[in-house]
Amino acid sequence: MIGSLMMCVSVVILLTGMIAGIAMGIQQNFVLAPAHAHLNLVGGVLLFLFGLYYRLFPAAGRMKLARIQGGLHIIGSILFPAGIALVLVNGNSYIAAPIVGSLIVVSAMALFVVVVFRTRTA
Ligand code: HEM
Repeated sequence: MIGSLMMCVSVVILLTGMIAGIAMGIQQNFVLAPAHAHLNLVGGVLLFLFGLYYRLFPAAGRMKLARIQGGLHIIGSILFPAGIALVLVNGNSYIAAPIVGSLIVVSAMALFVVVVFRTRTA
């Protein structure tokens, strides 16, 4: 079920993001803080909340749209922070990565709006 998959991916992302936060602290180098923040919030917190919705409302989780939304959000929530990190470290020649990543994330969010409205009485 897509909700369970999303929650599993989310907790792995959160663990990774927290370890990255500890690494930043140990090195006293906070250049990657925006990538850390977006990985934890978009890939960790948001993904978990979406997964929770699909678990709480199984009718929503069974929709094909939910699978597309979940898959898109997983891809975007990795590409977006990775793209931010690439730009922070290597400069604007990698700017396409966070732009595409953010567009994927916002598309997934738009699909989630449709899912929630369609299942609001579920
Ligand atoms: C073990 C857990 C974590 C550690 C060790 C950690 C560590 C850090 C460090 C060292 C910074 C940079 C601080 C600075 O720039 O002075 C930071 C920033 C930040 N972290 Fe974490 N963090 C952790 C978990 C989380 C989680 C779970 C979230 C969100 C759900 C989060 C969101 C943020 C945000 C929003 C920022 C500010 C980013 C910015 O200023 O650009 N962190 N964190």
